[in-house]
Amino acid sequence: MASQRQLWTQGRRFNIVEISSRGGQELCRGYSSTVSQAQKLKNRAQEERLRQIRDRIIRVDHAGEYGANRIYAGQMAVLGKTKSGPLIQHMWDQEKVHLDIFNKLIPKYRARPTAFLPIWDIAGFALGAGTALLGEKAAMACTVAVEASIVEHYNNQIRELMASTDNLEDNKEILDYIQKCRDEEQEHHDTGLEQEAEKTPGYNLLYNAIKTGCKTAIWLSERV
Ligand SMILES: [Fe+2]
Ligand SMILES: [Fe+2]
Repeated sequence: MASQRQLWTQGRRFNIVEISSRGGQELCRGYSSTVSQAQKLKNRAQEERLRQIRDRIIRVDHAGEYGANRIYAGQMAVLGKTKSGPLIQHMWDQEKVHLDIFNKLIPKYRARPTAFLPIWDIAGFALGAGTALLGEKAAMACTVAVEASIVEHYNNQIRELMASTDNLEDNKEILDYIQKCRDEEQEHHDTGLEQEAEKTPGYNLLYNAIKTGCKTAIWLSERV
């Protein structure tokens, strides 16, 4: 009762408290709606950033695996019947699986393939056949240089994908595929070295020229 009377006697104050309480609720409501709007915008920006990263990564990896297939096709055209034939065929078979992976990821993630595919088609075959014509060791030197570039490139992508989000599940599928490809490219690189790639005359020159070519192709395929 005492508190009721107090409320009656302090009617005016009660009203003020009531008004400010209502205003507070509205302020809170307004604040939480602003926060959720800001969160939505942040999420949308994050999704768009991830979409752009995936688009670039899938495009360049698809281009790389396409080019790798053409290189091994060129090597097989020249060395298919030599003792290196089965080894090159084995690596080519793995490259076919890699290309299949990115052929599936392109439509799945609505990524845009590079406009350079027709160029990589010809350049890849020419590089594979051209180095194979210099001999089996030169073909392996080409493999070592190409695969070293790709392993480096895949490792950079793995780091970028892992840093791009707090939730690794966001990129798990792409990360798993890239890690699988990266491990097999490393095997191809090591196979090339085991096959005495480094004994090719002018190995360093050839190695550096091919690596520079690969880096340029990667740069172009990421952008166009
Ligand atoms: Fe590959
Ligand atoms: Fe490879």
